[in-house]
Amino acid sequence: EKGGFASFMDKEIHDQPQAVGDTLLGRTDLEGRLVLDDLRIDESVLRTVDKIVVIACGTAAYAGHVAKYAIEHWCRIPVEVELAHEFRYRDPVVNEKTLVVAITQSGETMDTLMAVRHAREQGAKVISIVNTHGSTIPRESDAVLYTHAGPEIAVASTKAFLSQITAAYLLGLYLAQLRGNMFPDEIAKIYDELREMPGKIQEVIDRGARVREIARWMADTSSVLFLGRHVGFPVAMEGALKLKELAYIHAEGFAAGELKHGPIALIEPGQAVFVIVPSPRGRHSLHSKVISNIQEIRARGARTLVLAEDGDEAVLPYADEVFWVPQAPTLLAPLLTVVPLQIFACELATARGLDVDQPRNLAKSVTVE
Ligand code: M6R
Repeated sequence: EKGGFASFMDKEIHDQPQAVGDTLLGRTDLEGRLVLDDLRIDESVLRTVDKIVVIACGTAAYAGHVAKYAIEHWCRIPVEVELAHEFRYRDPVVNEKTLVVAITQSGETMDTLMAVRHAREQGAKVISIVNTHGSTIPRESDAVLYTHAGPEIAVASTKAFLSQITAAYLLGLYLAQLRGNMFPDEIAKIYDELREMPGKIQEVIDRGARVREIARWMADTSSVLFLGRHVGFPVAMEGALKLKELAYIHAEGFAAGELKHGPIALIEPGQAVFVIVPSPRGRHSLHSKVISNIQEIRARGARTLVLAEDGDEAVLPYADEVFWVPQAPTLLAPLLTVVPLQIFACELATARGLDVDQPRNLAKSVTVE
């Protein structure tokens, strides 16, 4: 069933264009308005929610962190992202005006389930973003938005992550539509841009040979750092998590802006650092700030592995290696930039002789608290 791939993980990385495409399918009604699968929440409640809390664990939580940037921008509702196990046990402020969004591939993660129950006891409505039909969390939620990634077998989550971001973005657009935060043509434009993403993700996968080569060369490395900013920050965290869980080497993700507040002390000659560079076409001035970060760490001897958008030549003077991704709107870029990091972790772990589908000490779904 691996479809000719060496591992389920490799197969699932290749499934990603389809997973994202399928998650986008059939989401509009006859009037072109976005629809949710199983909505047992009154629309008037969704119009009045004053806070969104995303609860999830691991990779699903990083999908939530990415979605926060988009939902706040589109809906002007404050979004908090909480690890489910922390949320449950810190007396969180949730009430009837809170919308909780639980993100989970398996639908069975006990930490997330307990947080869902707690949120509902406090009167909050819960929408879950789930991949596995018939699982527990959607049954205990007020509404469900299914990701259509297909079964994910490898313990390390890949295609679920991309579909979770896609589904959370659909939810953000749905809320913006319902609450009148955006004009219908603005929503339609973003929906169309989302529909271009499967082709672009395929392009990133097709360009994977170089990142695989570098990963094999780095099989004996003992530490890799990941830097990102804005939506690139959770992507950096996810890149580090993939490497930890698969290759068992020290890996850490940082917000690029935080570098000078401490982590730059870690930089010594030869330290490998992935840097996710925001689009130079973005509205913020973040591109030049991240370029300065690359310059700073390079000056201290870091080996810079840079993820940049096609045509962004500003990275060239400071990059030991560039992995190019197709151009995309800033908020959609994580669907592309995470892919080389997944490929890197998968290939590096394989080069170390490890089983990427069954990393040590881990289970696919964590059904105990
Ligand atoms: O099934 P879930 O999405 O609720 O699982 C959450 C985490 O346990 C999961 O994402 C985990 O972090 C993965 N092993 C990451 O690759």
